[in-house]
Amino acid sequence: MQKRTKSFIINPSLLSCDLSNLKTEVKKVEEAGADGLHIDVMDGHFVPNLTFGPWIVKDLSQITHLPLDVHLMVANPEVQWESFAQAGAHSISVHYEALKDFSILSNIKNLGISSGLAIKPKTSVESVFPYLEHIDFIIIMTVEPGFSGQKFIESSALKIKSLRQELDRRKTSVKIEIDGGVNNQTLQWLNEADILVSGHYIFKSNNYRSAISRLKGVVNE
Ligand code: DX5
Ligand code: ZN
Repeated sequence: MQKRTKSFIINPSLLSCDLSNLKTEVKKVEEAGADGLHIDVMDGHFVPNLTFGPWIVKDLSQITHLPLDVHLMVANPEVQWESFAQAGAHSISVHYEALKDFSILSNIKNLGISSGLAIKPKTSVESVFPYLEHIDFIIIMTVEPGFSGQKFIESSALKIKSLRQELDRRKTSVKIEIDGGVNNQTLQWLNEADILVSGHYIFKSNNYRSAISRLKGVVNE
């Protein structure tokens, strides 16, 4: 069994929680050791699904001390990101495939909000290299965006490794966040990551604390 020397940051994705008990679910993952809350914003255009607006982020900011990690899966991030910033997001990620104006990456950063660039499974990791100076983290999507509970795409492992190599080569502190199909089995591919998003694995388990602990500590079980 191989152990990591550093722990992952674990951000449970609220997409998989029981939304009829949102406040209870938030408190439960807080007590279970979550480091942040991942909020998937979908607009029915960039992805074929609809989820949360900025008001949810604002309400969440009133009930939790956890950082709010807002993942914008929307066709017009240039138009929408500011309302999430005002609502209290601690980090905002936008999709490479949707961006027309990349200056929003530094606009997000200039507000003191952690700025992220997300890529879909078919987008090459080299696409983000020109923007590394303007961002704090990269989300490598390891499922097609749009739904929770999908199977991890194993070929993503190579993308993660080559991104880590490039970040090390540049001696940058940009973080790698992995989103999609993260569980105790797929951890074996994620050693080079910093932040793990996990929805189904945590919220469909019968013990949030042990699910989060397993993701934090162990590479292979
Ligand atoms: C998918 C979302 C993910 C999703 C992850 O489009 O971006 O954040 O909630 O859920 P799991 O961990 O169930 O794949
Ligand atoms: Zn997400």
